[in-house]
Amino acid sequence: MKTTLGDRIVRSELYKSIFRHGYTGSRRNRYLTLLTNFFLHLHPLETPGGALRFSYTWGLGGITFLLFCLLTVTGVLLMFYYVPDSRRAYDDTKDLEFVVPFGLFLRNLHRWAGHAMVITVWLHMLRVFLTGSYKKPRQFNWAVGVILLVTTLLLSFSGYLLPWDQIAFWAITVGTNMATATPFLGAEGPFSFVTYENDMRFLILGGRFVGQNALLRFYVLHCLALPLIAAVFIGVHFWRVRKDRFSVPLDPGGEKISAAKIDVWPHLVSREFLAMIVTILLLVGWSLVVDAPLEEIANPNNTPNPAKAPWYFLGLQEMLVYFDPWIAGVMLPLMIVAGLVMIPYLDPNPGGVGIYGYRHRVYTISVFLLGFFMWVILIFMGQFFRGPGWGWYWPWETWVVPKPIYAKTWDFPGPLGLAALLMFFGIGIYSPRKLKPKLFAGLSTGKYVTIMILLLSMIALPVKILLRLIFDVHYVWVTPWFKI
Ligand code: HEM
Repeated sequence: MKTTLGDRIVRSELYKSIFRHGYTGSRRNRYLTLLTNFFLHLHPLETPGGALRFSYTWGLGGITFLLFCLLTVTGVLLMFYYVPDSRRAYDDTKDLEFVVPFGLFLRNLHRWAGHAMVITVWLHMLRVFLTGSYKKPRQFNWAVGVILLVTTLLLSFSGYLLPWDQIAFWAITVGTNMATATPFLGAEGPFSFVTYENDMRFLILGGRFVGQNALLRFYVLHCLALPLIAAVFIGVHFWRVRKDRFSVPLDPGGEKISAAKIDVWPHLVSREFLAMIVTILLLVGWSLVVDAPLEEIANPNNTPNPAKAPWYFLGLQEMLVYFDPWIAGVMLPLMIVAGLVMIPYLDPNPGGVGIYGYRHRVYTISVFLLGFFMWVILIFMGQFFRGPGWGWYWPWETWVVPKPIYAKTWDFPGPLGLAALLMFFGIGIYSPRKLKPKLFAGLSTGKYVTIMILLLSMIALPVKILLRLIFDVHYVWVTPWFKI
């Protein structure tokens, strides 16, 4: 038989010293390809066929990982041209636009991949939730996922400051101002025992205001600390996906959709490559057409009105209209993160894994979607309907003549407010179990009360919005230490 060039390469000492397998034509060699390749060896050898359905995972976890890798590569390249010195950071960013070959394209890729990762990580979480894939034995991996979600948001937030333009400066000023409202540890928070010189905001900024120290801190966090944390947890996340096995999609009748095992090489690996190519093409196309914004240089003496936080934190900023900063900026985000981590441990229903649809999990899915869409709506309100003085402006209304701020609000008298709150939480916790005992069967009292407190806190948001919009109520309960 004639020896081809390919045969000679595969049999050469150099090839064999790197790859421990021949052509991927035989099953043995395909397995060896996965087992002896550093990048591929995280994969199992076989997987249930149904798990590869695109319409099950939408490739969202893999795409999020790809974006993380792209961000690392483009971020390292950007580091060659950027110095975190407040006197030259803006000029370095401008130079990327006008001096560095392909600098603008590089910056665009990095910026848009960052935004895309924030979106895909949320969507990936939504798909994992909707298919019940967080249930036993994957509870812990869901919690690892929540850490990754928070790390992704912090990565994006810390990068926001680096261009040192007006958007960057004021978005970070608004975002970090909320930290002064931290209970106990914020200078303006309830039960504060600290000053502006040693509170939470000072810790984050390295000073009272956004300046050189803040830029250096955000740079180190963005380029080193947070990517390292993300890389470690992504490693743990993937390892657990392997150990816990991938959830298998079921058809709505409960039958497993092709549980028969198929080889991961080539079936999964080729799909991953396809998703990778499509994502990269879309991102490159977008980065060629749309430029990352860069306003004029940061000016601490010129506050834009309105000064908006980055879009993914606009939900929190919008909540500031209805709640005090310690609730909107600190307690509610903490409760959201804690609530997300606890979902697998609080959900007593083992059913519905692998199925999109309400049938097996009507209440859990409804509550989650309510929270998810409330969050999206708040972001939309903050992004598109808020103008000067955080007033409500329809997209077709001009900002040139600011509207008068309508501030005629009133508070519930103290005892009445306390009674209203006690009734809201008391009745809210007591009655559901009394009225529908079957629904909560199998839940310990501790778990039941935790679920109801989280749920009622979530419902409190639209209730407070309606109280404000319809009855002009500002606070429900006013005490000398805090206001709710
Ligand atoms: C940097 C962020 C993340 C990356 C790179 C990532 C990556 C992945 C990948 C590649 C998978 C395999 C299947 C798939 O593509 O769906 C996966 C599965 C999973 N992820 Fe993530 N993920 C991230 C964040 C999250 C978040 C925020 C959550 C939930 C809060 C989460 C929970 C899970 C769970 C429970 C599974 C197993 C799903 C199953 O077996 O069906 N992940 N993740």
